[in-house]
Amino acid sequence: MTRRMTRFAAACFVGATAVATLIGQSASPQQAVDAAYGKYKTLQEGKNADYIPALAKVDPNLFGIALVTVDGKVYTAGDVGTEVSIQSISKVFTMAQVIQEQGLESIEKRIGVDATGARFNSIIAVESVKVVQGAGAPEMNPLVNPGAISATSMVKGSSANEVWGKIIGFHNDAAGRQLTVLQDVYKSEADTNQRNQAIGALMLAYGYIKDNWQQAVDLYTRQCSIGVNAKDLAMMAATLAGGGTNPVTHKKVLDADKVPGVLAVMATAGLYDDSGKWLYRTGLPAKSGVGGGIIAVSPGKFGIAVVSPPLDDAGNSVRAQKAIADISNSLGGNPYAARTKAGTQ
Ligand code: DON
Repeated sequence: MTRRMTRFAAACFVGATAVATLIGQSASPQQAVDAAYGKYKTLQEGKNADYIPALAKVDPNLFGIALVTVDGKVYTAGDVGTEVSIQSISKVFTMAQVIQEQGLESIEKRIGVDATGARFNSIIAVESVKVVQGAGAPEMNPLVNPGAISATSMVKGSSANEVWGKIIGFHNDAAGRQLTVLQDVYKSEADTNQRNQAIGALMLAYGYIKDNWQQAVDLYTRQCSIGVNAKDLAMMAATLAGGGTNPVTHKKVLDADKVPGVLAVMATAGLYDDSGKWLYRTGLPAKSGVGGGIIAVSPGKFGIAVVSPPLDDAGNSVRAQKAIADISNSLGGNPYAARTKAGTQ
């Protein structure tokens, strides 16, 4: 080894050690990411979503992991370049956009922040709120479709184009690059989203949406079709982990004092009816999408994302859940695991 190579290797070691210290563990993030990739690469469980025809055609073997620390270091394994549709993960960022624009209480008062305990497109959940609390009661959640379509309707703008420009702009800023809509997915979902149209109409009838439910459903469908890869998603998660500022571009996306509310909603409902199980195992606020992505946030430490299309019965990527749990647990990412002075967890 030449002297220059030795210096480079030493610098790499110091860099990795500094990041390991930052995230509170002696294991290197790259080792943790590589280990999870190797362990789950050949796992064949779950099934692509097929209720949107275009999603059934995505390669089920696609598997990419990315972790971005709050100081902007990026660790990856597998395919982190291929884009899938962001799907329900977009609900987090549109909700965050409304919170940024109109305050934390805007979502809480209009939609509510209680977990529904039901599937993402449940109409029974809307009806039971109506029966028990009355039409328009803020007892819904912005991460399931009725609340998410309502949140999209709350983004201010005088035309659909203006609202869309703000929605895609917010996602771009969080990801740190210009994202685009996957037109095949958008068309496929727009052709088959009659259930979401019914939900949109119901939300107008019950007063959660104030006007033009058709526009809200169309923009919601577009936001679900935004193309992202594992690295984009990890960057978006790291933006939340670092208090609302993108760790690489340093652009502020969301005020730091609004981030805890966003993470709290992710913790209660990010993986739908399996959110409790997920939180029990990892402690991480997270959000899944039927495109196969999951983002998870270790506040103050890192954002992590995995893309792998096959889903379990609750609609959450099988490999993504396993890989994120392993990586976070080996890096000390669980925010509920307090460190004692002795350094134990
Ligand atoms: O509303 C829908 O059907 C989708 N575009 C989004 C659903 C979704 O990602 C649910 N997530 N796990």
